[in-house]
Amino acid sequence: MTGRRGSVRGVRIAALGVYAPERVLTNDELSQTLDTSDAWIRTRTGIRERRIARADQAPSDLAAEAGRRALNQAGFDPGRLDLIVSSSLIPDMVFPATAAVVAHRLGAVNAGAFDVQAGCTGFVYALACAVGFVGAGMYENVLVIGAEVVSRGLDWQDRATCVLFGDGAGAALVNKADGSAAFTFDLGNDGSGAEQLNMPAGGARLPASHETIDNRQHFLKMNGPEVFRFATRKVAASCQAVLGEAGVGVADVDLFVPHQANMRIIDAAAKRLGFEPQQVFTNLDRFGNTSCASIPLCLAEAMEVGRLKKGDRLLMAGFGAGLSWGSCLMTWEL
Ligand code: ACO
Repeated sequence: MTGRRGSVRGVRIAALGVYAPERVLTNDELSQTLDTSDAWIRTRTGIRERRIARADQAPSDLAAEAGRRALNQAGFDPGRLDLIVSSSLIPDMVFPATAAVVAHRLGAVNAGAFDVQAGCTGFVYALACAVGFVGAGMYENVLVIGAEVVSRGLDWQDRATCVLFGDGAGAALVNKADGSAAFTFDLGNDGSGAEQLNMPAGGARLPASHETIDNRQHFLKMNGPEVFRFATRKVAASCQAVLGEAGVGVADVDLFVPHQANMRIIDAAAKRLGFEPQQVFTNLDRFGNTSCASIPLCLAEAMEVGRLKKGDRLLMAGFGAGLSWGSCLMTWEL
């Protein structure tokens, strides 16, 4: 099963804002209430600690803060936004869209707003929507968001999932660029794996009931080893597809930013693709898997520490529930 590839020219990311909650939850703290250890979590995943949102924070709160920071960076009036595309693994509510709430919070009174549900690949999918709208000339300014309070959807008695995730948000302003730099995407999905990673209850198929609560079906469920196998295979194949489509070699990529799920998945994909360690960016040790927020959180930090500069060729790759995957090759213009 392969994804679909496509390229768009004359579009850029014009600003980037991120937000991570202040509360740090370490592996040692987790091992006080769970049968786990810092050593197990670090060696099996690469995670040391993660951020956890306050009880009064939902994805839209983190998203609004990240969005505000992105717009402030560009000195951009929210009233000029044409569209907000937001992605979350676990949104504020089943409906309305988190993007609708964020639009109101930002004062984006003239913007359309919708959510993308593509698991942890959400940010790449949402970015593809924005780039497509701007590239087609339909809209000029689109805000793309990846925002997560995954901690709220975890079963804190399930050590195989709750140690992996963290909370955070990122927002990118997408608009027209003068240059000819292209975005190339590969988006794919294999729905036969839909049950490998899901939240079984709370939707129309299995509405909330006493039984679904007793059965702990309102929490994230994951077949870890199966998702692991899928991710190591698909990330590399998708990146190869995007590089092939763009006619770009691995050595010509300045920075590879994969979704931050597990250091062993990242290492395996980077090795398969032939990346040198200095080409790969990770911050999973301090944030865990922040799902749709992991790529923008990495981008902001890579810029801050000088690993991502204007003119750099950037390759991003996401994967997650669906089972979905998506890669994007672009030129960084910030
Ligand atoms: N602490 C201690 N032991 C643990 C823990 C823990 N936190 N979690 C699992 N174990 C145990 C298991 O119970 C098992 O014990 P057993 O052998 O006695 O049965 C043992 O460790 C090995 O379990 P595995 O599941 O085989 O461990 P694995 O090495 O595969 O690591 C992990 C599990 C980390 C979940 C891995 O499979 C993984 O990262 N998978 C990919 C997950 C992922 O990327 N998900 C995000 C996708 S993105 C999205 O859309 C959400």
